[in-house]
Amino acid sequence: MTDSPQKAQGPAGHCLSFAAQDVAERLLNWYGLAGRELPWRQTRDPYRIWLSEIMLQQTTVAAVVGYYRRFLERFTSLETLASAPLEDVIDLWAGLGYYARARNLHATARRLVAERGGEFPAGVAELMRLPGIGRSTAGAISALAFDLRAPILDGNVRRILCRLFALQEPPRSARADKKLWSWAECLTPGHRVHDYTQAIMDLGALVCTPNKPDCEQCPLETLCVARSRNLVELLPLKMPRKKIPGRHQLALLLVDRERCLVQRRPASGLLGSLWEFPGLEADAGEPLEMIRQYFAGIERISEIRLLGRARHLYSHFRLEVDFYRVELEPCERIAEGAGLWLPLGDLEQLALHGAHKKLLPLIGA
Ligand code: ADE
Repeated sequence: MTDSPQKAQGPAGHCLSFAAQDVAERLLNWYGLAGRELPWRQTRDPYRIWLSEIMLQQTTVAAVVGYYRRFLERFTSLETLASAPLEDVIDLWAGLGYYARARNLHATARRLVAERGGEFPAGVAELMRLPGIGRSTAGAISALAFDLRAPILDGNVRRILCRLFALQEPPRSARADKKLWSWAECLTPGHRVHDYTQAIMDLGALVCTPNKPDCEQCPLETLCVARSRNLVELLPLKMPRKKIPGRHQLALLLVDRERCLVQRRPASGLLGSLWEFPGLEADAGEPLEMIRQYFAGIERISEIRLLGRARHLYSHFRLEVDFYRVELEPCERIAEGAGLWLPLGDLEQLALHGAHKKLLPLIGA
Protein backbone atom coordinates (compact mmCIF):
# COMPACT_ATOMS: atom_id res chain seq x y z
CA MET A 1 0.00 0.00 0.00
CA THR A 2 1.20 3.50 -0.68
CA ASP A 3 1.06 6.45 1.62
CA SER A 4 -1.55 8.23 -0.51
CA PRO A 5 -5.17 8.55 0.66
CA GLN A 6 -6.77 5.22 0.11
CA LYS A 7 -10.27 3.90 0.49
CA ALA A 8 -10.49 1.25 3.16
CA GLN A 9 -12.04 -1.96 1.91
CA GLY A 10 -15.16 -2.96 3.82
CA PRO A 11 -16.86 -6.33 4.05
CA ALA A 12 -17.38 -8.16 0.77
CA GLY A 13 -14.92 -5.83 -0.90
CA HIS A 14 -17.17 -2.77 -0.81
CA CYS A 15 -15.41 0.52 -0.57
CA LEU A 16 -16.34 2.40 2.56
CA SER A 17 -16.94 6.07 2.41
CA PHE A 18 -13.79 6.99 4.35
CA ALA A 19 -10.10 7.07 3.59
CA ALA A 20 -7.59 5.06 5.56
CA GLN A 21 -5.60 8.22 6.11
CA ASP A 22 -8.59 9.83 7.79
CA VAL A 23 -8.66 7.03 10.37
CA ALA A 24 -4.96 7.44 11.11
CA GLU A 25 -5.24 11.21 11.45
CA ARG A 26 -8.19 10.99 13.81
CA LEU A 27 -6.40 8.41 15.91
CA LEU A 28 -3.19 10.42 16.06
CA ASN A 29 -5.02 13.59 17.11
CA TRP A 30 -6.93 11.73 19.76
CA TYR A 31 -3.74 10.07 21.02
CA GLY A 32 -2.12 13.50 21.44
CA LEU A 33 -4.93 14.46 23.81
CA ALA A 34 -5.87 11.21 25.53
CA GLY A 35 -3.01 8.70 25.08
CA ARG A 36 -1.43 7.12 28.13
CA GLU A 37 2.10 7.74 29.32
CA LEU A 38 3.53 4.29 29.84
CA PRO A 39 7.11 3.35 30.77
CA TRP A 40 7.85 1.57 27.47
CA ARG A 41 6.67 4.52 25.41
CA GLN A 42 9.72 6.64 26.19
CA THR A 43 12.11 4.28 24.47
CA ARG A 44 12.89 2.92 21.02
CA ASP A 45 15.25 0.29 22.40
CA PRO A 46 14.17 -3.02 20.82
CA TYR A 47 15.09 -4.95 23.98
CA ARG A 48 12.77 -2.88 26.15
CA ILE A 49 9.99 -2.79 23.59
CA TRP A 50 10.19 -6.53 22.97
CA LEU A 51 10.07 -7.15 26.73
CA SER A 52 7.01 -4.93 27.16
CA GLU A 53 5.19 -6.53 24.24
CA ILE A 54 5.80 -10.04 25.55
CA MET A 55 4.68 -9.04 29.04
CA LEU A 56 1.57 -7.36 27.66
CA GLN A 57 0.41 -10.44 25.76
CA GLN A 58 -2.88 -11.43 27.42
CA THR A 59 -2.09 -9.20 30.41
CA THR A 60 -3.26 -5.74 31.41
CA VAL A 61 -1.06 -2.68 31.54
CA ALA A 62 -1.77 -2.29 35.26
CA ALA A 63 -0.47 -5.79 35.99
CA VAL A 64 2.63 -5.36 33.83
CA VAL A 65 4.08 -2.00 34.93
CA GLY A 66 5.73 -3.21 38.17
CA TYR A 67 7.07 -6.40 36.59
CA TYR A 68 8.52 -4.44 33.69
CA ARG A 69 10.46 -2.15 36.04
CA ARG A 70 11.73 -4.97 38.24
CA PHE A 71 12.71 -7.08 35.25
CA LEU A 72 14.78 -4.26 33.76
CA GLU A 73 16.46 -3.57 37.08
CA ARG A 74 17.60 -7.18 37.24
CA PHE A 75 18.16 -7.86 33.52
CA THR A 76 19.46 -4.56 32.25
CA SER A 77 20.28 -5.84 28.75
CA LEU A 78 19.69 -8.72 26.40
CA GLU A 79 23.12 -10.03 27.38
CA THR A 80 22.37 -10.12 31.11
CA LEU A 81 19.10 -11.92 30.38
CA ALA A 82 20.84 -14.44 28.12
CA SER A 83 23.48 -15.26 30.69
CA ALA A 84 21.03 -15.75 33.59
CA PRO A 85 19.72 -19.20 34.55
CA LEU A 86 16.17 -19.85 33.34
CA GLU A 87 15.04 -20.40 36.94
CA ASP A 88 15.92 -16.78 37.84
CA VAL A 89 13.78 -15.52 34.96
CA ILE A 90 10.87 -17.75 35.96
CA ASP A 91 11.12 -16.66 39.59
CA LEU A 92 11.05 -12.98 38.65
CA TRP A 93 8.02 -13.66 36.45
CA ALA A 94 6.19 -15.19 39.43
CA GLY A 95 2.57 -14.02 39.51
CA LEU A 96 2.42 -12.67 35.96
CA GLY A 97 1.17 -15.98 34.54
CA TYR A 98 1.53 -17.60 31.11
CA TYR A 99 5.04 -18.71 31.96
CA ALA A 100 5.77 -19.95 28.45
CA ARG A 101 6.42 -16.28 27.79
CA ALA A 102 9.29 -16.22 30.28
CA ARG A 103 10.81 -19.35 28.76
CA ASN A 104 10.49 -17.91 25.26
CA LEU A 105 12.01 -14.63 26.38
CA HIS A 106 15.02 -16.43 27.75
CA ALA A 107 15.36 -18.66 24.67
CA THR A 108 15.14 -15.64 22.37
CA ALA A 109 17.76 -13.71 24.35
CA ARG A 110 20.15 -16.68 24.14
CA ARG A 111 19.54 -17.11 20.44
CA LEU A 112 20.03 -13.44 19.59
CA VAL A 113 23.23 -13.24 21.59
CA ALA A 114 24.62 -16.48 20.16
CA GLU A 115 23.61 -15.91 16.54
CA ARG A 116 23.33 -12.17 15.98
CA GLY A 117 25.67 -10.52 18.46
CA GLY A 118 22.68 -9.38 20.52
CA GLU A 119 21.01 -7.48 17.64
CA PHE A 120 17.27 -7.67 17.08
CA PRO A 121 16.09 -8.14 13.50
CA ALA A 122 13.85 -5.29 12.38
CA GLY A 123 11.38 -6.97 10.02
CA VAL A 124 8.18 -8.87 10.77
CA ALA A 125 9.19 -12.11 9.02
CA GLU A 126 12.50 -12.39 10.86
CA LEU A 127 11.01 -11.45 14.22
CA MET A 128 8.37 -14.14 13.77
CA ARG A 129 11.08 -16.80 13.66
CA LEU A 130 11.91 -16.07 17.30
CA PRO A 131 10.19 -18.00 20.10
CA GLY A 132 6.98 -16.42 21.40
CA ILE A 133 6.69 -13.77 18.69
CA GLY A 134 3.57 -14.08 16.55
CA ARG A 135 2.57 -11.81 13.71
CA SER A 136 0.98 -9.10 15.85
CA THR A 137 3.85 -8.92 18.34
CA ALA A 138 6.31 -8.84 15.44
CA GLY A 139 4.30 -5.98 13.93
CA ALA A 140 4.30 -4.10 17.21
CA ILE A 141 8.07 -4.45 17.69
CA SER A 142 8.74 -3.41 14.08
CA ALA A 143 6.49 -0.39 14.38
CA LEU A 144 7.47 0.70 17.89
CA ALA A 145 11.21 0.07 17.82
CA PHE A 146 12.03 0.53 14.15
CA ASP A 147 9.20 2.77 12.92
CA LEU A 148 8.47 0.33 10.12
CA ARG A 149 5.04 0.31 8.59
CA ALA A 150 3.80 -2.96 10.06
CA PRO A 151 0.21 -3.67 11.16
CA ILE A 152 -0.78 -5.17 14.49
CA LEU A 153 -3.86 -7.24 15.24
CA ASP A 154 -4.05 -7.96 18.94
CA GLY A 155 -7.34 -8.50 20.78
CA ASN A 156 -8.00 -4.78 21.10
CA VAL A 157 -7.42 -4.04 17.45
CA ARG A 158 -9.56 -7.01 16.38
CA ARG A 159 -12.43 -5.62 18.40
CA ILE A 160 -12.03 -2.11 16.97
CA LEU A 161 -11.95 -3.39 13.38
CA CYS A 162 -14.88 -5.76 13.90
CA ARG A 163 -16.92 -2.78 14.99
CA LEU A 164 -15.53 -0.21 12.58
CA PHE A 165 -16.38 -2.47 9.64
CA ALA A 166 -19.31 -4.26 11.33
CA LEU A 167 -17.81 -7.66 10.67
CA GLN A 168 -20.59 -10.17 11.22
CA GLU A 169 -18.72 -13.43 11.38
CA PRO A 170 -16.82 -15.17 14.17
CA PRO A 171 -13.65 -13.08 14.47
CA ARG A 172 -11.29 -16.03 14.97
CA SER A 173 -12.30 -17.86 11.79
CA ALA A 174 -9.68 -18.09 9.04
CA ARG A 175 -11.85 -15.97 6.74
CA ALA A 176 -12.33 -13.23 9.31
CA ASP A 177 -8.67 -13.34 10.17
CA LYS A 178 -7.72 -12.65 6.59
CA LYS A 179 -10.08 -9.70 6.34
CA LEU A 180 -9.01 -8.26 9.66
CA TRP A 181 -5.33 -8.41 8.73
CA SER A 182 -5.98 -6.75 5.41
CA TRP A 183 -7.91 -3.92 7.09
CA ALA A 184 -5.22 -3.54 9.73
CA GLU A 185 -2.64 -3.33 6.95
CA CYS A 186 -4.68 -0.88 4.96
CA LEU A 187 -5.23 1.48 7.90
CA THR A 188 -1.63 1.52 9.14
CA PRO A 189 -0.11 4.80 7.94
CA GLY A 190 3.29 5.28 6.32
CA HIS A 191 4.40 7.91 8.82
CA ARG A 192 4.21 8.20 12.63
CA VAL A 193 3.70 4.45 12.78
CA HIS A 194 4.97 4.35 16.35
CA ASP A 195 2.30 6.75 17.59
CA TYR A 196 -0.42 5.24 15.43
CA THR A 197 0.29 1.79 16.88
CA GLN A 198 0.17 3.06 20.45
CA ALA A 199 -2.95 5.07 19.60
CA ILE A 200 -4.95 2.13 18.32
CA MET A 201 -3.91 0.08 21.35
CA ASP A 202 -5.10 2.86 23.65
CA LEU A 203 -8.37 3.24 21.80
CA GLY A 204 -9.10 -0.43 22.45
CA ALA A 205 -8.06 -0.22 26.09
CA LEU A 206 -9.77 3.08 26.96
CA VAL A 207 -12.70 3.66 24.61
CA CYS A 208 -13.62 0.73 22.36
CA THR A 209 -13.71 -1.64 25.32
CA PRO A 210 -15.36 -5.09 25.33
CA ASN A 211 -18.19 -3.93 27.58
CA LYS A 212 -19.78 -0.50 27.69
CA PRO A 213 -17.63 1.12 25.00
CA ASP A 214 -17.54 4.90 25.28
CA CYS A 215 -18.58 5.68 21.69
CA GLU A 216 -19.17 9.35 22.40
CA GLN A 217 -15.47 9.79 23.14
CA CYS A 218 -14.36 7.80 20.13
CA PRO A 219 -12.53 9.68 17.36
CA LEU A 220 -13.84 7.10 14.86
CA GLU A 221 -17.47 7.37 15.94
CA THR A 222 -18.76 8.95 12.77
CA LEU A 223 -16.96 6.35 10.61
CA CYS A 224 -17.98 3.31 12.63
CA VAL A 225 -20.43 1.07 10.80
CA ALA A 226 -21.41 -0.81 13.96
CA ARG A 227 -22.23 2.51 15.65
CA SER A 228 -24.43 3.66 12.80
CA ARG A 229 -26.34 0.35 12.84
CA ASN A 230 -26.58 0.05 16.61
CA LEU A 231 -24.47 -3.10 16.62
CA VAL A 232 -21.59 -2.02 18.84
CA GLU A 233 -22.58 -4.11 21.86
CA LEU A 234 -23.17 -7.17 19.65
CA LEU A 235 -19.78 -7.12 17.95
CA PRO A 236 -17.39 -8.86 17.79
CA LEU A 237 -19.63 -11.94 17.50
CA LYS A 238 -19.03 -14.43 20.28
CA MET A 239 -17.40 -17.71 19.31
CA PRO A 240 -19.24 -20.86 20.42
CA ARG A 241 -17.44 -22.39 23.39
CA LYS A 242 -15.43 -25.55 22.74
CA LYS A 243 -16.26 -28.56 24.85
CA ILE A 244 -13.12 -29.64 26.64
CA PRO A 245 -12.48 -32.62 28.93
CA GLY A 246 -12.04 -32.26 32.67
CA ARG A 247 -9.38 -33.59 35.04
CA HIS A 248 -9.43 -33.83 38.79
CA GLN A 249 -6.37 -33.71 41.03
CA LEU A 250 -5.47 -33.47 44.68
CA ALA A 251 -2.84 -31.01 45.85
CA LEU A 252 -1.25 -31.43 49.24
CA LEU A 253 -0.17 -28.73 51.62
CA LEU A 254 2.27 -30.86 53.59
CA VAL A 255 3.00 -28.97 56.77
CA ASP A 256 5.79 -29.65 59.21
CA ARG A 257 6.34 -26.97 61.84
CA GLU A 258 4.77 -24.18 59.75
CA ARG A 259 6.84 -25.05 56.69
CA CYS A 260 5.38 -26.69 53.62
CA LEU A 261 6.82 -28.72 50.80
CA VAL A 262 6.96 -27.30 47.27
CA GLN A 263 8.54 -28.86 44.23
CA ARG A 264 9.92 -27.44 41.02
CA ARG A 265 8.63 -29.04 37.83
CA PRO A 266 11.19 -30.24 35.27
CA ALA A 267 12.43 -27.52 32.91
CA SER A 268 11.03 -29.22 29.82
CA GLY A 269 7.36 -30.08 29.35
CA LEU A 270 4.12 -28.60 30.59
CA LEU A 271 4.55 -25.69 33.05
CA GLY A 272 8.31 -26.22 32.96
CA SER A 273 10.39 -24.85 35.88
CA LEU A 274 7.31 -23.65 37.77
CA TRP A 275 6.70 -24.58 41.37
CA GLU A 276 3.82 -26.66 42.69
CA PHE A 277 2.51 -28.52 45.70
CA PRO A 278 2.91 -32.28 45.65
CA GLY A 279 -0.18 -33.86 44.14
CA LEU A 280 -2.07 -36.94 43.06
CA GLU A 281 -4.58 -37.69 40.31
CA ALA A 282 -7.91 -37.77 42.14
CA ASP A 283 -9.74 -40.37 40.10
CA ALA A 284 -7.95 -43.36 41.57
CA GLY A 285 -9.98 -43.67 44.78
CA GLU A 286 -11.19 -42.13 47.99
CA PRO A 287 -9.01 -39.06 48.65
CA LEU A 288 -8.25 -39.48 52.36
CA GLU A 289 -7.36 -43.12 51.84
CA MET A 290 -5.12 -42.25 48.88
CA ILE A 291 -3.30 -39.62 50.88
CA ARG A 292 -2.75 -41.99 53.82
CA GLN A 293 -1.46 -44.69 51.51
CA TYR A 294 0.84 -42.26 49.79
CA PHE A 295 2.58 -41.57 53.10
CA ALA A 296 2.36 -45.05 54.58
CA GLY A 297 5.77 -45.95 55.95
CA ILE A 298 7.30 -42.55 55.09
CA GLU A 299 5.85 -39.95 57.41
CA ARG A 300 3.34 -39.92 60.21
CA ILE A 301 0.30 -37.77 59.65
CA SER A 302 -1.35 -36.03 62.54
CA GLU A 303 -4.23 -34.46 60.62
CA ILE A 304 -5.72 -34.24 57.11
CA ARG A 305 -8.20 -31.52 56.25
CA LEU A 306 -9.85 -30.45 52.98
CA LEU A 307 -9.18 -26.72 52.56
CA GLY A 308 -11.21 -26.17 49.39
CA ARG A 309 -11.27 -26.51 45.63
CA ALA A 310 -9.84 -24.41 42.79
CA ARG A 311 -10.73 -24.55 39.11
CA HIS A 312 -8.41 -23.66 36.29
CA LEU A 313 -8.88 -23.63 32.57
CA TYR A 314 -6.08 -24.77 30.28
CA SER A 315 -6.38 -24.67 26.52
CA HIS A 316 -7.06 -28.41 26.29
CA PHE A 317 -8.64 -29.36 29.58
CA ARG A 318 -10.43 -28.06 32.65
CA LEU A 319 -8.75 -28.83 35.92
CA GLU A 320 -10.31 -29.16 39.34
CA VAL A 321 -7.90 -29.30 42.25
CA ASP A 322 -8.91 -30.29 45.78
CA PHE A 323 -6.48 -28.88 48.28
CA TYR A 324 -5.72 -30.85 51.45
CA ARG A 325 -3.73 -29.69 54.42
CA VAL A 326 -1.72 -32.63 55.69
CA GLU A 327 -0.14 -31.99 59.07
CA LEU A 328 2.92 -34.13 59.59
CA GLU A 329 4.25 -35.14 62.97
CA PRO A 330 7.58 -33.47 63.56
CA CYS A 331 10.08 -36.07 62.45
CA GLU A 332 12.66 -36.59 59.77
CA ARG A 333 11.61 -34.96 56.54
CA ILE A 334 10.34 -36.76 53.44
CA ALA A 335 13.22 -37.89 51.25
CA GLU A 336 16.08 -35.46 50.88
CA GLY A 337 15.74 -33.65 47.56
CA ALA A 338 11.96 -34.06 47.41
CA GLY A 339 11.67 -30.30 47.15
CA LEU A 340 11.93 -27.17 49.21
CA TRP A 341 10.47 -26.69 52.68
CA LEU A 342 9.26 -23.13 52.67
CA PRO A 343 7.69 -21.03 55.45
CA LEU A 344 3.96 -20.73 54.71
CA GLY A 345 4.29 -16.94 54.62
CA ASP A 346 6.74 -17.11 51.68
CA LEU A 347 4.38 -18.87 49.26
CA GLU A 348 3.03 -15.62 47.79
CA GLN A 349 6.41 -14.81 46.22
CA LEU A 350 6.85 -18.23 44.66
CA ALA A 351 6.39 -18.89 40.92
CA LEU A 352 3.59 -21.40 41.42
CA HIS A 353 1.72 -22.42 38.28
CA GLY A 354 -1.70 -20.88 37.83
CA ALA A 355 -3.88 -23.68 39.18
CA HIS A 356 -1.88 -23.93 42.40
CA LYS A 357 -1.61 -20.16 42.79
CA LYS A 358 -5.39 -20.17 43.10
CA LEU A 359 -5.06 -22.42 46.14
CA LEU A 360 -3.20 -19.84 48.23
CA PRO A 361 -6.25 -17.97 49.53
CA LEU A 362 -7.55 -21.30 50.86
CA ILE A 363 -4.63 -21.74 53.23
CA GLY A 364 -6.05 -19.33 55.77
CA ALA A 365 -9.50 -20.96 55.52
N1 ADE B 1 -0.75 -3.96 24.74
C1 ADE B 1 0.17 -4.54 23.95
N2 ADE B 1 1.19 -3.69 23.67
C2 ADE B 1 0.91 -2.53 24.31
C3 ADE B 1 1.56 -1.29 24.42
N3 ADE B 1 2.73 -1.08 23.82
N4 ADE B 1 0.98 -0.32 25.16
C4 ADE B 1 -0.19 -0.56 25.78
N5 ADE B 1 -0.85 -1.71 25.73
C5 ADE B 1 -0.31 -2.70 24.99
